[in-house]
Amino acid sequence: MSNTVEIVELTKKFGQKVAVDQVSFAIAPGEIFGLLGPNGSGKTTLTRMLCTILKPTSGRAYVAGKDIIREAKAIRKIIGVVPQALTTDLDLTAWENLDIYGQLYAIPKKERRERSEYLLESVGLTHRAHDLVATYSGGMRRRLELARGLMHRPQVLFLDEPTIGLDPQSRHVIWEILGKMLQQWRLTILLTTHYMEEAEYLCRRVAIIDYGKIIALDTPSGLKKTLPGTDVVEMTLCPALEPGAVEAITAKIPGLHRVEVGDGLHSFYVDEGSRTMLPLIDVLRAGGHQVEKVVVRELSLEDVFIHYTGRSIREEEPRKISWIIGAGMPQTIQ
Ligand SMILES: Nc1ncnc2c1ncn2[C@@H]1O[C@H](COP(=O)(O)OP(=O)(O)OP(=O)(O)O)[C@@H](O)[C@H]1O
Ligand SMILES: [Mg+2]
Repeated sequence: MSNTVEIVELTKKFGQKVAVDQVSFAIAPGEIFGLLGPNGSGKTTLTRMLCTILKPTSGRAYVAGKDIIREAKAIRKIIGVVPQALTTDLDLTAWENLDIYGQLYAIPKKERRERSEYLLESVGLTHRAHDLVATYSGGMRRRLELARGLMHRPQVLFLDEPTIGLDPQSRHVIWEILGKMLQQWRLTILLTTHYMEEAEYLCRRVAIIDYGKIIALDTPSGLKKTLPGTDVVEMTLCPALEPGAVEAITAKIPGLHRVEVGDGLHSFYVDEGSRTMLPLIDVLRAGGHQVEKVVVRELSLEDVFIHYTGRSIREEEPRKISWIIGAGMPQTIQ
């Protein structure tokens, strides 16, 4: 079997609830594969099955050629897991956390020390190595979790929401660390996330999962190519567009494919946003609309998600966050 992870019609039911529904895909050796989906879409359940902690209801899966049901023990030796919930011990120092983990994998003392030094340096925690984890910020603890998951040099790494709850700056620090580590090691990674930017930044291919089903799978750019248009012109209009007016505007602007209105924000899906924007504004003004704020941006994975599911990936957060992310939140990483 040439793929490092091979999943065939994997299904997990909790009572009547189908958490993972006939999922099939494969991950090539050395690939970073992203599983992108909203809360409750089945990402953790799928990851837990591949890590052999949860038995599937039906279907098959193989990690490094080994069957997740019959060869669970062998799989556990070669995988690293960074779970969604933080699990490093708060009452121990970073150094102690890594050392105990190394002992569980029977790594000799000298090697444990060398690996801990190297990993703590890689995640920027050398200066805090002997402080209790209880005194760490969220970003620091996430970085320690990542180091711990790599302590036994796994072939395959499962990262379940590695930056959840972190501010954008701390998230970028983790991305950079991961990027650097991947240049040095040949690791195969399954990363779950509900941050589109994360999937786009880190992953070669991305599967979008919703209600337990894979609804699209390709490279980020391949996924975007399946959508009509290349850019989105976002604007606030006063008064807002009536649903009936949309068709008339679409007819007047060549290259305008779709209009979406939500929370007062109008999103026009167009070809070549910088060229289409001015005629679009002219038409809207001629129709008696005041154009208040205009942003032109490239299509994102968020747009891909909306296209396939009809709703935003962020159920609890307003959509506008997707384009202010990276603009610099005040919090800093220690
Ligand atoms: N042990 C369990 N018993 C019953 N239902 C469960 C169990 N674990 C998960 N579920 C349900 O399965 C569905 C998928 O959950 P899962 O944790 O896999 O989603 P997720 O995509 O990881 O979500 P999140 O982004 O919030 O972490 C949810 O409806 C969840 O309530
Ligand atoms: Mg989860």
